[in-house]
Amino acid sequence: MFDWEEIYATRAKRMGASEIRELLKLLEQPDIISFAGGIPDPALFPNDAFQEAYSDILSGPEAGQALQYSVSEGYPRLREWIVKRMRARGIDADLENIFITSGSQQALDYLGKLLLSPGDTALVSWPTYLGALQAFNAYEPRYDRLDLSRNAAPEAYSAAADKAGSRVKFAYLSADFANPTGESLTPMEREKLLDIADALDIVVIEDAAYRALRYEGERQKTLLAMDCERSGGIENTRTLYCGSFSKTLSPGLRVGWVCAATPIIKRLVLAKQAADLHSPTINQMAIARVAENSFEAQAEKINTVYRERRDAMLKALADYMPAGVEWTRPEGGMFIWLTLPERMDATELLPLSLKTAKVAFVPGNAFYADGSGRNHLRLSFSCSAPEVIDEGIRRLGAVLSEELAAAA
Ligand SMILES: Cc1ncc(COP(=O)(O)O)c(C=O)c1O
Repeated sequence: MFDWEEIYATRAKRMGASEIRELLKLLEQPDIISFAGGIPDPALFPNDAFQEAYSDILSGPEAGQALQYSVSEGYPRLREWIVKRMRARGIDADLENIFITSGSQQALDYLGKLLLSPGDTALVSWPTYLGALQAFNAYEPRYDRLDLSRNAAPEAYSAAADKAGSRVKFAYLSADFANPTGESLTPMEREKLLDIADALDIVVIEDAAYRALRYEGERQKTLLAMDCERSGGIENTRTLYCGSFSKTLSPGLRVGWVCAATPIIKRLVLAKQAADLHSPTINQMAIARVAENSFEAQAEKINTVYRERRDAMLKALADYMPAGVEWTRPEGGMFIWLTLPERMDATELLPLSLKTAKVAFVPGNAFYADGSGRNHLRLSFSCSAPEVIDEGIRRLGAVLSEELAAAA
């Protein structure tokens, strides 16, 4: 048999299968109440709007263009819609500041490719989006923990990197409704992050995948908008805003974008030309039409449903969780993050929960660059009706109560 392991490039060696993605395949069985997958509820997709859009495109004058190769920057009409949206958020973007990607996941891959040489340092929160770790891992980085609640001097990050013979290149995080915690940065934390980035002279990657899913509270400024204010305009900024239509319109069409200063956009275009030339033309056209006609209505529709589900999960947690278990109270997004007593291990708890309660969740350690965080777990409320959430959390609460009692 051919020895594949021996022939791989060093970068491929860090591309281990994501335990969670493997696990998720097993968890979506009909008799399991799954709070594991962080995906939109397919019942909420705007099917009719897409049907109309595709039929309109294929029966109209743009049919040939829709099925043809297209420019790597992306479909201009879609980029125009995005420009308007970014401007409404205080970002002075023009068409040349917008680059269409195949989902925001692709942006993370390209940014890893453009910014990380092997051994370079990426600052990420502990925990962080595991797909970002997967994307960056291929470029063989060193990770350091970005902790905005500590009052560490920015130089602490560069000193640690120096010691490891490394250089800090960027800080990656979601300012709004992060995966996996559901939490958002306060305005002060946003300022602090930009201060750190200024002091270290590094890039900020702002992952805005969940930004449109807000159920309460006031909209916060994006890091990119704050960077524009501080630096005098988008061309002077160091922040790369990664947006996505996956959580609002459809993840299956794979359409996302980057909004940033033109030099990095031009480099991203070159990365895309080498990788896949452009994102599917017809999907960009369909997203543009659906976004123009019904983005706000769609956002309102899903936010109403997800708000109800978040509320149901928060209430059920308060009703059924034993003392010693804590959780976040997100204002948006899809996730609630549980903290169990230190001695508990969510990876060990999962098989037990599946067997005795038939409830699935994602163990927290998958989201830590160093594999720690074993006493945490992630729950997603996006795909379950309130009564199912109540039942699932009741059962999970019973498993946790028993485990805690046994360990006492
Ligand atoms: C925080 C975060 N960023 C990015 C993505 C990637 O989304 P997409 O590539 O569909 O835009 C996800 C998907 O779950 C996510 O949770």
